[in-house]
Amino acid sequence: MVVHLVGAGPGDPELITLKAVKVLEKAEVVIYDRLANEEILKHAPHAKLIYVGKKAGEHYKTQEEINKILIDEAKAHDEVVRLKGGDPFVFGRGGEEVLALQEEGISVDMIPGITSAIGVPTTIGLPVTHRGVATSFTVVTGHEDPTKKEKQVKWDYTADTVVVLMGIGQIAENTQEMMKYRDPETPVCVIEKGTTPEERIITGTLENISKKDINPPALLIVGNVVDVYKKMKK
Ligand SMILES: C[S@@+](CC[C@H](N)C(=O)[O-])C[C@H]1O[C@@H](n2cnc3c(N)ncnc32)[C@H](O)[C@@H]1O
Repeated sequence: MVVHLVGAGPGDPELITLKAVKVLEKAEVVIYDRLANEEILKHAPHAKLIYVGKKAGEHYKTQEEINKILIDEAKAHDEVVRLKGGDPFVFGRGGEEVLALQEEGISVDMIPGITSAIGVPTTIGLPVTHRGVATSFTVVTGHEDPTKKEKQVKWDYTADTVVVLMGIGQIAENTQEMMKYRDPETPVCVIEKGTTPEERIITGTLENISKKDINPPALLIVGNVVDVYKKMKK
């Protein structure tokens, strides 16, 4: 019994690794979250498919329930794939699942995916670092667990580029916080449903971006690299 923890990439079904396709082809079970493109599941024609993501109007599975499904399926089958959007270890709770499986003596094979945090800006021609403009970047959640006793996200990051995931619901609060440490005129780019046919790109500044029409899933890139994107030929 082995569980392959696999990153599916940011949306475009061709942005998955060959290694991921190989394990999907021999999978007996695929346990997956909401994927930007379910076409990826076609690589697993023989597998039982178990969806554990959110469904409108329905209770969605807790992490404990997902861990239990993973453990039960791994004990009953030789080849199980746990498929997650982007990279499993970037805001994907992949680490928690690995620890839960290993505690039960189940081996886990980890296959990275292209994270939306970098892959989505790259596909539109927005580099997160650029010589003379940005020598560092930070990836941060824009939606911290509200049950946490103390906030870990402080918005005082010193990196030149800040990429915010899961930040659309609280975009006004987050940009307000960032303006305590950055110029309100700092350029911002939002990419909605990146790498998919519904992709939308919205640009603005820290001060005005929250007033624009933006829908999740989307990410924000904050910093002067947005000006480099504006110069690139489309
Ligand atoms: C729970 S996190 C998972 C991130 C994933 N593990 C990764 O590496 O890309 C989900 C967030 O990723 C971002 N995201 C994922 N796919 C995206 C896409 N195709 N376009 C824009 N943002 C995306 C959004 O900010 C979304 O709220």
